[in-house]
Amino acid sequence: MVKTIVWKDNQVVMIDQRKLPLQEKYVVCKGYRSVIRAVKELVIRGAPAIGVAAAMGVALGSLKIRTTGIDRFKTRFDAICHDMVAARPTAVNLAWAVERMKQVADETSHKGVKAVKSRLVQEARRILQEDIAINRAMGRHGQKLLKDGSRVLTHCNAGALATGGYGTALGVVRAAVEAGKGIEVFADETRPFLQGARLTAWELKASGIPVTVITDNAAGYFMQRGKVDAVVVGADRIAANGDVANKIGTYMVAVLAKTHRIPFYVAAPVSTIDLSTKKGEDIPIEQRDQTEVTHFQGRRIAPAGVVAGNPAFDVTPHRCVSAIITEKGVITPPFRSQLKGLVS
Ligand code: MRU
Repeated sequence: MVKTIVWKDNQVVMIDQRKLPLQEKYVVCKGYRSVIRAVKELVIRGAPAIGVAAAMGVALGSLKIRTTGIDRFKTRFDAICHDMVAARPTAVNLAWAVERMKQVADETSHKGVKAVKSRLVQEARRILQEDIAINRAMGRHGQKLLKDGSRVLTHCNAGALATGGYGTALGVVRAAVEAGKGIEVFADETRPFLQGARLTAWELKASGIPVTVITDNAAGYFMQRGKVDAVVVGADRIAANGDVANKIGTYMVAVLAKTHRIPFYVAAPVSTIDLSTKKGEDIPIEQRDQTEVTHFQGRRIAPAGVVAGNPAFDVTPHRCVSAIITEKGVITPPFRSQLKGLVS
């Protein structure tokens, strides 16, 4: 399976997701600023993957801090962490990973700068390995929801590319296939960055899992004709009441699924649950550059001077969610107290 991100010789290497599937190129980040740039420019994307990138980014940044004084080191390290968290606002995994790195720095600081640096590198690599194991556990739980022969619709890319490996929503699909079930996937193309058409289709095809790419606007057509048995998507943040932020367009899919009585499942690690965000309206939604909408592959498709709105995420209300699949198990509504239980 594809390696989304690796730590190699004190550098962070990522597959360039802007270029897939036409080109398989890698971006090598030698400092934390280039990791921030990669996250902002979607070289790497997907909530758990940018969490891993952030952890590796701050570890990389720490290695370049030239001081042996722990207080000066911590001041500089905190500034790096601050910049990293600001890279993208919606996926809580990024802030979660940076917070975990800060805790490690705090716990080790009495041993001196050198020890802190090596612990930070170790922790970043651990976060990557843990993420893969978490996805496999999520897959084991979630696959039970899919019957042999299920036709699953997914939105965006919540696969190996969006995580340390294996995937969340696509991890559930992979686990069902590994359990011997025949599963077919409908991949919404996911305008404007085309995570579905480019990335989900690419990784499923590579894994030999049948995939049909559809335009975002075609989801209702296929549901209405009884061609979709379940929806499985990932999440960027799950609020305390079970509202789910995910890629723009997910909300439309959820409403359609509810209308057609199709189960709508969200697969996400516990690190995506943010109890400090009470409800969906409180989740900060990233607004991206208008040119992602007005242009296609560098060429203008909308009239010059026209304004475009480009929210990167939307919020699916918890009443549209049939179940949330995590590494600790599957929960069904009502979510609030169970989400609390999962986090503690
Ligand atoms: O803008 P992106 O590509 O980072 O958005 C990604 C998504 O919305 C994913 O569905 C989400 O992060 C879950 S990934 C396992």
